[in-house]
Amino acid sequence: MDELTIRTPDDLHVHLRDDVMLPETVPATARCFARATVMPNLVPPVTTADLATAYKQRILAAVPAGQNFDPLMTLYLTMQTSVADVEAAKVAGIRAIKLYPAGATTNSDAGVSSLEPLYPIFEAMSKAGILLLIHGEVTEYEVDVFDREKEFIERYLRDICKSFPDLKIVLEHITTKDAAEFVGSGPENIAASITPQHLLLNRNDLLAGTLKPHNFCLPILKRNIHQLALREAVASGSTKFFLGTDSAPHARHRKEAACGCAGCYSAWSAIELYAQVFDDLNCLDKLEAFASENGADFYGLARNEGTITLRKESWTIPEEVTLADSTPIVPFFAGQDLRWKLA
Ligand code: DOR
Ligand code: ZN
Repeated sequence: MDELTIRTPDDLHVHLRDDVMLPETVPATARCFARATVMPNLVPPVTTADLATAYKQRILAAVPAGQNFDPLMTLYLTMQTSVADVEAAKVAGIRAIKLYPAGATTNSDAGVSSLEPLYPIFEAMSKAGILLLIHGEVTEYEVDVFDREKEFIERYLRDICKSFPDLKIVLEHITTKDAAEFVGSGPENIAASITPQHLLLNRNDLLAGTLKPHNFCLPILKRNIHQLALREAVASGSTKFFLGTDSAPHARHRKEAACGCAGCYSAWSAIELYAQVFDDLNCLDKLEAFASENGADFYGLARNEGTITLRKESWTIPEEVTLADSTPIVPFFAGQDLRWKLA
């Protein structure tokens, strides 16, 4: 097969950032995704409907002329989030609220420190039909960083799913066999997004021989048995798994630093990276459902009307992209060749 046309996909997990980043990140995502779930971990975080509405206007101002792109806005859950905030979010058309355990990742300091007190909020979200998106990692120092996702499932997620059977929950950017099994065989109200980096790489690509800061993301890359489980999950065709890139740009100097930031900027090659994985797995016929149907269906959105075409054509991901203020960013897979290209 040399050409593949699929329904226009959605990226249901992306970090567009703000200000000078937007003219870079918005066109990169809008080049092939009709919609994207926009993460709220700005500084300060997007905690209210008013902040999300203003942020949405800044994003729309960066959409290239003539292109359609619908940013799906989210709120950042804190210990101060109220039922009134949830109701205001519903009125403002906000689809989802993101749960970051405090300290789990980039700009998560304002995240949640305890889950039980938030159960009334989950109840209100369930009633309002607002999805709960979860960064599923515990943050206790004594828990090994490679076990933090599995521990979150055991300690918290099972109970949340059971307690709120009508609340739609997305376990974001899953990285383990444990998460793939939990979601794949779990209740109907849970699904998961999967990134290109967790399908393409394992912890050797981060740690073996030399440290590769541009492959550092959170949750951290795991050992290869977990990578293989994620590949099996997408190849299975289960409707519970869908595309969410977690494309997350950081300036080069913040990645190549003593305390390097977590995040892979994959937007410029996202759909192509997924196509390569599905091709390697001999299941290109499953790409359309993963990229363009499963997520929309789970969110309760209409599937997109248009199509995109991918061609089998070798190209090289640039070594660097530069923001308008000259800040360099190293894209994910920089300098590497890909076999599929968006037409
Ligand atoms: O690698 C990551 N980067 N994981 C996250 O959860 C956040 C993201 C970011 O905002 O940079
Ligand atoms: Zn993210």
